[in-house]
Amino acid sequence: MLSVGILTVSDKGSRGERVDKSGEVIKDSLSRFDGHLVKYQVIPDEPAIISQTLIDWADEGGLDVILTTGGTGLSQRDVTPEATLSVVDKVVPGLAEAMRAQTLPITPMAMLSRAAAGVRSQCLIINLPGSPKAVKECLEVILGVIPHAVEIIKGEVTEHSLETAGNTGIDKCG
Ligand code: MTE
Repeated sequence: MLSVGILTVSDKGSRGERVDKSGEVIKDSLSRFDGHLVKYQVIPDEPAIISQTLIDWADEGGLDVILTTGGTGLSQRDVTPEATLSVVDKVVPGLAEAMRAQTLPITPMAMLSRAAAGVRSQCLIINLPGSPKAVKECLEVILGVIPHAVEIIKGEVTEHSLETAGNTGIDKCG
């Protein structure tokens, strides 16, 4: 099982002025990649708070994956990608590129998300956009590769395999 943290980045959500539907969408998807919820928090769009929370969660060692939602757009308060990139050891551009590219046929608005992804302290951090619809669409793109990504990060892949990753139909790298 993968230990997952969900970090919702929303000024309104953090003040209790908005129900966190996007966090709920992520929670509902956990079983699809063998994830279980270990941490969940709603924080404001403040760079220092976002980056410190990511550092704390990743460095504690109890999480395999952190999924953030919100703050990836173009407004002044949207700073989740910068906060994420400021704390990761490795950037994983392909995850965010795939989310944008593969959901672009659904909506051209996909190109307005600046979501990023990376690895810190053996924890995979992935930004998702803020709306529940966007979260659902983007998760569909990346769910199938998360378990293998975590295996690689943890050094659990001893030899490359051509087996399929679970029932996702996605081949592991061979
Ligand atoms: N991606 C997908 N797949 N579907 C969407 O509906 N919405 C976009 C974009 N990414 C969307 C999407 C919109 S309208 C915005 S403004 C950006 O994500 C940034 O959203 P955020 O600031 O809430 O993170």
